[in-house]
Amino acid sequence: PLTPAQVLALPKVELHLHIEGTLEPELILRLAERNGIRLPWADLADLQKQYEFTDLQSFLTLYYANMAVLQTPADFADLTRAYLARAKAAGVRHAEVFLDPQAHTVRGVSLATCINGVAEVLEQSEAEFGLTSALIVTFLRDRPAAEALAMLEELIEMEAPIEGIGLDSAEVGHPPADFVAVYDLARAHGLECVAHAGEEGPPEYVWQALELLQVSRIDHGIRSLEDENLVNHLVERQIALTVCPFSNVRLRVVDTLDVHPLPEMLARGLAVTVNSDDPAYFGGYLDDNFQALVTTFGFTAADLAALSRTAVHAAFLTEDQREPLL
Ligand code: HPA
Ligand code: ZN
Repeated sequence: PLTPAQVLALPKVELHLHIEGTLEPELILRLAERNGIRLPWADLADLQKQYEFTDLQSFLTLYYANMAVLQTPADFADLTRAYLARAKAAGVRHAEVFLDPQAHTVRGVSLATCINGVAEVLEQSEAEFGLTSALIVTFLRDRPAAEALAMLEELIEMEAPIEGIGLDSAEVGHPPADFVAVYDLARAHGLECVAHAGEEGPPEYVWQALELLQVSRIDHGIRSLEDENLVNHLVERQIALTVCPFSNVRLRVVDTLDVHPLPEMLARGLAVTVNSDDPAYFGGYLDDNFQALVTTFGFTAADLAALSRTAVHAAFLTEDQREPLL
């Protein structure tokens, strides 16, 4: 079997990573102190006790609460730098990073503060950390679609350095169909389109993301397995699914890793990629997710390389940029 050192060294591509989900407890406390913010936790151990989740919403509540410490461009830059350093150590060669601007603007942090803080560091990712990167702005589906549309207009107006848009936050009751106007505008401006669908929500939401939002990748998508026609469609078109094993276990989408449907998804011929989602919350980064596939399912170097190859093809890269990663 593969050794941990070999798993670490394998070149990897990350396509489903929320930058706010890389905010580690230690950094939360450091930024709270720097910004004079009082947190409801007594100390680090008390904060660390909060990381037990029963579903997506129980995670989102802590995820949004912790963002209170992110106030200045420097905070966003420090967060992004810490992620890139960790990603480099994990063997990540290319990362497409989600940012949730509404989670910041609703608490009085400007759009420019969060975008510029993250973007200025991502611009240096290749020079400083040896990995290429892209920024994808994700809209919160449990907030009004009109708010997302206005924000996208603002992002276009300010010529924000973004590669595409996505859709995340509480899924059930917030179907992709509500966001058609947002995705139409994004596409008209040449932006790439992805959306979370089929994490807690039904296969119908995956169909809507594909047919109404015309996304080129589905984030999560594991509930697609409940619809045979959908599986066939995803296989025929080789639409990539950005699957996040640790996330699914910690948010109780699956009971345990050993019953995760990832091997079945691969056997069905789905274009599966493996990603870390919110690694500071779910017990590990991309290397840890890969290592768990080795330990739990006996994945070989060839299996892991195949996952990375699928991710390279699903990434928003030119053929010239893809080549050194293959
Ligand atoms: N699902 C939905 N919203 C999110 C997630 C997720 O996995 N991570 C951060 N916001
Ligand atoms: Zn996610």
